Amino acid sequence: MTLAPWQSPLARALHRNRSLAHVRHVQLATVRQDGRPANRTVVFRGFLDNTNSLKFATDRRSEKADQIAFQNWGEVCWYFPKTREQFRFFGELILVDNEYPDPTLLKARKAQWHDLSDPGRSQFTWSHPKKPRAADDESFHLPPPEPTEPLPHFCLVLLNAIEVDHLELKGDPQNRYLYQRGAAETEWTVQEVNP
Ligand SMILES: Cc1cc2nc3c(=O)[nH]c(=O)nc-3n(C[C@H](O)[C@H](O)[C@H](O)COP(=O)(O)O)c2cc1C
Repeated sequence: MTLAPWQSPLARALHRNRSLAHVRHVQLATVRQDGRPANRTVVFRGFLDNTNSLKFATDRRSEKADQIAFQNWGEVCWYFPKTREQFRFFGELILVDNEYPDPTLLKARKAQWHDLSDPGRSQFTWSHPKKPRAADDESFHLPPPEPTEPLPHFCLVLLNAIEVDHLELKGDPQNRYLYQRGAAETEWTVQEVNP
């Protein structure tokens, strides 16, 4: 697939900010069942092979998973401090859980699980997120799970953007570019807009 035109400014930002340890931490906003917003930090896990889909990993038991299952619009906000630029990715979220019907995405889920570190995989053995903490909960001290088989509540999350808003604070005036996807996944337009 042709890469979207926003991929090159994003790759440039990632490269120029690569010395920052937290450069892949982004904010992912979803919509709660009551229409209110929910937002949290997640790690950007790269792109699904040869696509424009941003990858994330999460736990099916977390609230964001239910929110995505109910209403799949989402937005990622990503600030690059060194180059002082922001990208906002707005689009549809896909929750690839263990029952997802598409074998290609199930394979990508498995690969993502494999790519996690042992501490990353261990989080999925922990007791249910956001439930009251029990004293001496053994789940926090289990050995790391096997890298070959994802635990059932491990999910790959994809964001397929339909709009990307790129703001560069450097420059006077600042620069802002709006990328919009057409009917086809490969059809993108870009427009310079007022900051
Ligand atoms: C630096 C940092 C990185 C994080 N990375 C992830 C991540 O990749 N996936 C994830 O599900 N939660 C991650 N979290 C935890 C989330 O921010 C959040 O607390 C958790 O997923 C529960 O969110 P929810 O209740 O809205 O679903 C991270 C938190 C921080 C501070």
